[in-house]
Amino acid sequence: MAALIRALHGSVTIVLIDHDIDQVLALSDRITVLHQGRVIAEGAPAEIQKNAEVQTAYLGHLKVAAGADAGLARAEGAPLLGVVSVDAFYGKSHVLHDVSLDVFPGEVVALLGRNGAGKTTTLAAITGVVPPRRGRITYRGRDITGGAPEAIARQGVGLVPQGRRIFPNLSVLENLTIARRGRGGWTLERVFETFPRLHQLRHASGGTLSGGELQLLAIARALMGNVELLLLDEPFEGLAPTIVETVWNVLHALKGETTLLLVEQNADLALALAGRAYVINNGSIVWSGDATTLRAQDDLRRRLLGV
Ligand SMILES: Nc1ncnc2c1ncn2[C@@H]1O[C@H](COP(=O)(O)OP(=O)(O)OP(=O)(O)O)[C@@H](O)[C@H]1O
Ligand SMILES: [Mg+2]
Repeated sequence: MAALIRALHGSVTIVLIDHDIDQVLALSDRITVLHQGRVIAEGAPAEIQKNAEVQTAYLGHLKVAAGADAGLARAEGAPLLGVVSVDAFYGKSHVLHDVSLDVFPGEVVALLGRNGAGKTTTLAAITGVVPPRRGRITYRGRDITGGAPEAIARQGVGLVPQGRRIFPNLSVLENLTIARRGRGGWTLERVFETFPRLHQLRHASGGTLSGGELQLLAIARALMGNVELLLLDEPFEGLAPTIVETVWNVLHALKGETTLLLVEQNADLALALAGRAYVINNGSIVWSGDATTLRAQDDLRRRLLGV
């Protein structure tokens, strides 16, 4: 879409309505920012970016600008999850090439990459949905390569899938209770304490929830399943700014308690949560290192991710 807008720029007048402020800043000549039904700023992108009220409305970005704390845990000891030289295919199409990454207990690790880079496929290889044709997946030091998805999940690997698949015809409460897997997962009380919005909505059917509410439900549902490693596939995708803040805060609160592998296109939000990061491009890991390094180096980030 961005490429199309750039191509049309100059020949057509375009009115772009979007909640992705980075996208809007990059593409527009003049911007009007609406927040809770009120115009809070108007002007050129450079002025808009400096506007304090706009920054507050987009709290996720404000926190990033303020330098949110780096990941708590360091990469030390034995990895909880090991992805070792993995190649994965869809039929004849070779999608992952020699992908290796580690996640240590207590860490938040970001896996960043553009559209179609291979992020979801990496998670599918870990969860057993797309078994690797070469390489190994280890969990708590044990080889789980080629294991059945259900068996891998039972060991404590939870997934919040891209697009937050939940059961639309079941209520919020039913969606949560059917996710319980064995003992040790979060109780309903704990879920409702952390996600008061879900308590309010507990009798609503899944199909009526907004995008942000669905995302909260998808995360809560994974936590009910006794999760030790939580894999999140683009949790901020398509969310309104105020909801981004809620989801970001929930993930921030999970830090140190649950180990997170966070797959994202939104580098700013992911890097503000993560201690370490990997960048995947065309199915290969092209960069890995401290999240702060990638955050601090605009040129590097732009070269790797185009943002
Ligand atoms: N089921 C499938 N069958 C065939 N090819 C697929 C399938 N799913 C994904 N691909 C291809 O594999 C490559 C990697 O896709 P993947 O979904 O892992 O990317 P991604 O990084 O998650 O992208 P996005 O940010 O758009 O979600 C892409 O070229 C995609 O077209
Ligand atoms: Mg994906």
